[in-house]
Amino acid sequence: MKSLLTDAQLEASEVVANCLMNRQRQLTGSNSYVKELGFNPLSFITTRIQNQKSVAWLDICCGTGRALIHAAESLYKLELTSQTSLVGVDIVSQFYPYPPELINLELLNKSIHTFTSSRKFDLITCVHGLHYLGDKLKVLEHAASWLNNNGLLIAHLDLANLWIVESDKLKPMSQKLLSNAGLKYNNRKKLCKIENSQELMFELEYLGADDCAGANYTGQPAVNSFYMPNSQK
Ligand SMILES: C[S@@+](CC[C@H](N)C(=O)[O-])C[C@H]1O[C@@H](n2cnc3c(N)ncnc32)[C@H](O)[C@@H]1O
Repeated sequence: MKSLLTDAQLEASEVVANCLMNRQRQLTGSNSYVKELGFNPLSFITTRIQNQKSVAWLDICCGTGRALIHAAESLYKLELTSQTSLVGVDIVSQFYPYPPELINLELLNKSIHTFTSSRKFDLITCVHGLHYLGDKLKVLEHAASWLNNNGLLIAHLDLANLWIVESDKLKPMSQKLLSNAGLKYNNRKKLCKIENSQELMFELEYLGADDCAGANYTGQPAVNSFYMPNSQK
């Protein structure tokens, strides 16, 4: 197997810094979170606020932040700004400008690998972001711990970008390994889901990433991530 990249090397790679990838998705419409997720984060927030004092949404790999900005604008019009918190994290700082009255919105320019949170979130999304990360499973483990008791995480994940190295042989990641860890996976939609705060346990050690994996189902070059079963250590 060729030598694998660390997170720092990966973050400097063309595949991740790539200016051609779609960072422009809006909340609704033909190029949108609603279309990609089959789910409307704004409806989720406005439904949940009826029974809670506040609602928080974290968008991992938020791109330009357009979907969050659109949601924050709608929440402002609904006079729900003070009861909501929207946080976006992206390693590339191409955020769209937004008006100062959207005080419930934070767009953070950092790697998700360095993001920590003591706050819990009702909703965590990652729209076509895991494809570009090295340790995808660690990010899912962390994100699961940032959900509140009745929180929901929904993220795109392509099993073709996850590989297990076992006794010097490469095996594709199985859906069973994900579900054993507590992750629901829809292979047709390439979406994984976590409901309610929980501890995910993959029992795998991360070995590194390959940024020459080529295009995945999105048509864009993606990153393969390699793991070894803990039992092989
Ligand atoms: C295909 S874009 C999707 C952006 C946005 N979710 C959308 O749908 O418009 C993937 C995003 O992942 C970001 N990204 C890649 N590696 C990252 C990392 N380690 N931490 C945070 N963001 C990262 C890229 O900069 C890019 O904006």
